[in-house]
Amino acid sequence: MHTILVTGGAGFIGSNFVRWALGRPEANCKLVVLDKLTYAGNLENLAGLEETYPDHYFFVRGDICDGDTVAELFEKHAPNAVLNFAAESHVDRSILDPMEFVRTNVLGTATLLAAARRHWPEESWDRARFLQISTDEVYGSLPEDRPDIKFTEDTPLAPHSPYSASKASADLLTQAYHDTYGFPTLITRCSNNYGPYQFPEKLIPLVIRNAMNDESVPVYGDGKNVRDWLYVSDHCTALWDVLSTGEPGSVYNIGGDRELRNIDLIRMLLDILDKPHSLIEFVNDRPGHDRRYAIDAGKLKSELGWEPSSDFREKLAETVNWYREHTEWLERVISGEYLATYDRIYRRGWKE
Ligand SMILES: NC(=O)c1ccc[n+]([C@@H]2O[C@H](COP(=O)([O-])OP(=O)(O)OC[C@H]3O[C@@H](n4cnc5c(N)ncnc54)[C@H](O)[C@@H]3O)[C@@H](O)[C@H]2O)c1
Repeated sequence: MHTILVTGGAGFIGSNFVRWALGRPEANCKLVVLDKLTYAGNLENLAGLEETYPDHYFFVRGDICDGDTVAELFEKHAPNAVLNFAAESHVDRSILDPMEFVRTNVLGTATLLAAARRHWPEESWDRARFLQISTDEVYGSLPEDRPDIKFTEDTPLAPHSPYSASKASADLLTQAYHDTYGFPTLITRCSNNYGPYQFPEKLIPLVIRNAMNDESVPVYGDGKNVRDWLYVSDHCTALWDVLSTGEPGSVYNIGGDRELRNIDLIRMLLDILDKPHSLIEFVNDRPGHDRRYAIDAGKLKSELGWEPSSDFREKLAETVNWYREHTEWLERVISGEYLATYDRIYRRGWKE
């Protein structure tokens, strides 16, 4: 049985991954989740797992920057893989407060790498894996008028936001562990995910929540920024393939070939919800807003045989339904702090 330390497992993608992996007995793994439970982490996302999988699932509340906590987990559970989901993940918040992003995303990754290297004897490195979960945002922005160009693993890193700069820094450090010590690292860079359990500050759940409440739906700038969307369970299968068969020292892009302008996605969501487009309200653009992201996942497909299996329209409708059926979850995860941040960004145009 593999033991995997899953950091940030109470967040959106982490909790989807934990549920997905535990639901596959053939994966035969024990998951130890370490999560600080920031505003974005929610134990409700993992509800019921302790009872259903008492021998395969363990939760520990803690900070990936805390070397003692991380060392204790390595000693107690002896994981042979780390999946580092833990991060401050919202670009807007990184513009308001970059320091927390440097702390968790850079120092936290450094703490995990150091602990894994200290606890894994070199003879075990052919069986151990450290998977750093990164983002397409580290590559910067693509021109709108060149649909033929996408991000490949060879695209130079050119992050623009404090969030993407902190993720790029963590990627470089992870790669340095491989290049310097031969440490068995892997890096994945995925496009935008959608699905259940996403904190409602992110575009899709934000639109759904506002529209359900007949509130205006804020759209940055001209709304023509392009993002490339992937259903979260396709991200999970890709991570599993990379963890099981990826070549140590490699980077793999993950994406669903589903580019959409934000405004078109928002109109689609309003149509599914049967709400009028007049709810759309254009607001001040995000400073340094990247124009277009698009992932070329050819390497992952040709080398590891991964393919996304989700139909976009079907999964988008399912996602809308999930939020419709989980309005209590939506309201519970939103705190006063979230509402104050929302107000500052969308109502006061980034002003104090
Ligand atoms: N959401 C996307 O579309 C997307 C796309 C590509 C890559 N990613 C990457 O995937 C990972 C997960 O993203 P997400 O959308 O699930 O994020 P999220 O914000 O929903 O979850 C992050 C989780 O990390 C936890 N966390 C934060 N700081 C921590 C710390 N110091 N110690 C321990 N836990 C901490 C939070 O409590 C939360 O549970 C991130 O690394 C992100 O960069 C996300």
